Amino acid sequence: MDAIIKPTGLRTGSTLTEIVRVNGLRKVYEGKQRVVAVDGIDLAVREGELYGLLGPNGAGKTTTISVCTTRVLPSAGSVCLDGVDVVASPALARRSMGIVPQYNTLDRACTVYENIFFHCLYFGFSRNDARERTAQLLEQFHLSDRASAYPAQLSGGLAQRLQIARAISHRPRVLFLDEPSAGLDPQSRIAMWDAVRALRDEGITVVLTTHYMEEADALCDRVAIVDHGKILVEDTPAALKSSVGAQKIYALELDNYEDAPQLAGQIRELQGVFEVEPTPTGLRIFAGSADGLLPEIVRASNPYGLRDLTVTETTLETVFIRLTGRDLRE
Ligand SMILES: Nc1ncnc2c1ncn2[C@@H]1O[C@H](COP(=O)(O)OP(=O)(O)OP(=O)(O)O)[C@@H](O)[C@H]1O
Ligand SMILES: [Mg+2]
Repeated sequence: MDAIIKPTGLRTGSTLTEIVRVNGLRKVYEGKQRVVAVDGIDLAVREGELYGLLGPNGAGKTTTISVCTTRVLPSAGSVCLDGVDVVASPALARRSMGIVPQYNTLDRACTVYENIFFHCLYFGFSRNDARERTAQLLEQFHLSDRASAYPAQLSGGLAQRLQIARAISHRPRVLFLDEPSAGLDPQSRIAMWDAVRALRDEGITVVLTTHYMEEADALCDRVAIVDHGKILVEDTPAALKSSVGAQKIYALELDNYEDAPQLAGQIRELQGVFEVEPTPTGLRIFAGSADGLLPEIVRASNPYGLRDLTVTETTLETVFIRLTGRDLRE
C-alpha cells in the first residue's frame, strides 16, 4: 500500500549514507542582467541529517534548492538525490523529495484536508490510503480541528505546518525547506522547529535554507555558510563557532570614528584581544573571555567619543562576519 516507487535505475555509485550529492553546481540567469546565482557548489548530505544552507539575501540558497527539487535547470554541475540524477530523471527524483518553497503554495480553493488528500492521490495513493494518510498527518501536525478550514483562514504558523505535512505526505526520503520560518512569530517558529526535529527523528533527511543564524544553530546537524553563490565553510554549528577562536565580540560606536585606526592599535595591545577591525562607525573587537577586558576597552575608547558598546557571544553570525566582513542582514 505504500505508494512510493523506490528509485532503482540510474544509481550513480553514491554511498549508502549519502542521500543528496551536489557536484560543481552553477546557475547563471541570463537576461538583461546576467546573474551568477550559484557559482560552484559541492555538498553532500547524509541520510537522516538535518542540513542547513545559511546565508544572506541573494546568496543563492533558493536557486540551489530549486535545482535540487527540479524547478530550475543548472547551467553546469549535477545533483543526485537518493542516487537519481535530478536533471536526467526529474519525475523519479521527485518521488524521493518533499518540498516546502519559500512562499506559500497551498491551494487556496481547497480545505486543509483536501490540500493533503489530493497531494496523496497525485502521488498514486488509493483513495483509502490517501484518507488514512491525511488523517494521520492532520493528527501529527495538530491540524485535525482545522481540517475543513481554508488556507486563508490559517495563521502563518499553521499554514507552514500544513505545507510541511503536505510535503511529506508521500513519504519522501528528503524534505527541502526553503526559509521555513520566514515571517513566523517567535512562538510559531519554535513550534515549527519541533515539527522539523520530529521529522528528523522519523528518519527523514531535511535540507533547509535560512538567513536566521539562531535557526541554523538550533536545528541543524551541519551548516554550510553560503555567500555570492559559494559555500564559504561547512561544519557542525559548534565547530563553526569554535573556529572563530574568540568567545566574545565587542562592537564599538565612536563619535570620532575617523580616528578608529589609532584606537585599534591601542586595543590590539590589550590582553585577551585577538583581532580588531574597523566598521563604518567604529570598531569590532574579537576577544577571549578574559575578565576585566570590558573596562579597559571603555577606558581606551572614551577619548574617541565612545557612543555605544555591545558585547555578544560568538554565534554563527560571528563566523559569517569573520568570513565576509559583513553582517548577515546587511
Ligand atoms: N529567475 C531569476 N532570474 C534572474 N535572477 C534571479 C532569478 N532568481 C534568482 N535570481 C538572482 O539570483 C541570485 C540568487 O538568488 P536566490 O533567490 O537563489 O538567493 P537566496 O539566497 O534564496 O536569497 P533570499 O534570502 O532573498 O531568499 C540573486 O541575485 C537573485 O536576484
Ligand atoms: Mg531564497
